[in-house]
Amino acid sequence: MFCKTQELKSGKSKTLFCTESPHHLIMLFRDDATAFNAQKKATFARKGLVNNHFNAFIMQKLQASGIPCHFEKILSNTESLVKRLEMIPIECVIRNIATGSLCKRLQIPEGMELSPPIFEFFYKSDLLGDPMINDSHILTFQWASEEAITTLKTLTARTNAILKPLFLQAGLLLVDYKLEFGYDQGKLVLGDEFTPDGCRIWDIKTRKKLDKDRFRQDLGEVIEAYEEVARRLNCPLP
Ligand SMILES: Nc1ncnc2c1ncn2[C@@H]1O[C@H](COP(=O)(O)OP(=O)(O)OP(=O)(O)O)[C@@H](O)[C@H]1O
Ligand SMILES: [Mg+2]
Repeated sequence: MFCKTQELKSGKSKTLFCTESPHHLIMLFRDDATAFNAQKKATFARKGLVNNHFNAFIMQKLQASGIPCHFEKILSNTESLVKRLEMIPIECVIRNIATGSLCKRLQIPEGMELSPPIFEFFYKSDLLGDPMINDSHILTFQWASEEAITTLKTLTARTNAILKPLFLQAGLLLVDYKLEFGYDQGKLVLGDEFTPDGCRIWDIKTRKKLDKDRFRQDLGEVIEAYEEVARRLNCPLP
């Protein structure tokens, strides 16, 4: 049995609680949504529940395919038990299809297929608006070692090789996503979450957006879209 002791940290959409075990945390998925570095905020009924179950479903698939993940088990509709990680302050992004900041930055047409997929690092800093960085920044500022950088790239690419076909067989394009990693007693492990909050998912035929862009762009039916993705992937939701 794992019980919450004190709150460890509360971010924009999740709260992490300590447990009696020094190596475990309880991750609470809240109904809060933010966009544009928290300048836009809202809450959506069922978001925490949907994201908790979606994250569990994806992390279990990844674990079954050999990606080490922090996820251990679902504890309630909105809470999961995870390994406590020492997080690396970096986001690893893979882009399979061009959209968002990539199109703006390099004047790439929206929807262009990216082959091979593009890999990017971003430095996690709300103050700086998560700027893009490269290996050289990571080494110089000692955010991760050269060996860890290689592992981050390998695990992010292996995740793509597992998830792209999983989404495709459900009639969904996994456009892009971000991953966060941390250390569990010296070992690099996938942490944080994999949910429609942190990736882009389009319907293969209509290219309808089924992810957090619905909130960013005021397209409506945000959680309805998240639930549709879950349903198509056969991810059970209560
Ligand atoms: N297993 C873990 N152990 C420790 N910290 C974790 C773990 N998984 C995720 N985290 C961290 O917990 C926080 C999750 O909260 P949330 O995603 O709501 O934060 P956020 O407001 O998005 O902040 P950030 O911009 O840092 O992600 C993040 O800082 C994330 O890096
Ligand atoms: Mg976050």
